[in-house]
Amino acid sequence: MKRRWFLASTAAVAIATVGLTAACGGGGTTGSEPKVLTMATSADYPPYEFVETAGGTEEIVGFDVDIARHIATELGYELQISNIDFNGLIPALQAGRADFVMAGMTPTEERKQNVAFSDIYYDAKQTIVFPSAIAITSPADLGGKTVGVQLGSIQEELANELVKTTPGMKLAPLNRINEIIQELKSGRIEAAIIEDTVATGFLANNPDLKMVVIPEEGPAGSAVAFPKDSELVSEFNRVLAEMESSGLMNELIIKWFGDEAK
Ligand code: ARG
Repeated sequence: MKRRWFLASTAAVAIATVGLTAACGGGGTTGSEPKVLTMATSADYPPYEFVETAGGTEEIVGFDVDIARHIATELGYELQISNIDFNGLIPALQAGRADFVMAGMTPTEERKQNVAFSDIYYDAKQTIVFPSAIAITSPADLGGKTVGVQLGSIQEELANELVKTTPGMKLAPLNRINEIIQELKSGRIEAAIIEDTVATGFLANNPDLKMVVIPEEGPAGSAVAFPKDSELVSEFNRVLAEMESSGLMNELIIKWFGDEAK
């Protein structure tokens, strides 16, 4: 498992430091640590979160990261980001290794048994992605095919349901979306189930792949996840609502998805 730690923008750090200095009565030279919020994510999911390598440095960026930075700044925290496999995110919250998760994560009933969720901040649909040489128009065409899904995702759950009614369909659960795309391109799997906005991004760079939207089934959309008893839930919901009403959320949607809010 790869794990990397990043500091938030220097602006957020500066604001957190100023807040701390004020709280110390203006002394400002005491060695107390600034308040830190740790976000865990699986940075394999552009445009929600991905590792940008520019000028020799690696940074986790994306829609979720912009939202998290804004919320952390509003609440007076410094933000740290921890990059782990999607399947390890809920265990990380349960073990207290992160204060929250933003990973394009859908609030399902099953997950709600183990973690708390904010309000949904973005909606999505599921698609089948496949090499253009193969003809797929609906889930029924997955019969006899090996289908890639991200381990622990709602796409894996959906595939588990489809397997029951689709003769010969086999599942290939993988840790990272990039691996799924590689397996598709090398022909080791024949299809994958991936969220629409994420699939669109990968297709733009891979003209040998195609996608078709799956008619709505099951839960969708993204919310922030927290440990069950976290006091951050209502504070995050307040800032998310402010971001909606001020138009900032829509600006970020246009920035990362190039589209109006759905
Ligand atoms: N929305 C889906 C889910 O909650 C997939 C999210 C995958 N996120 C990621 N960062 N890889 O299961």
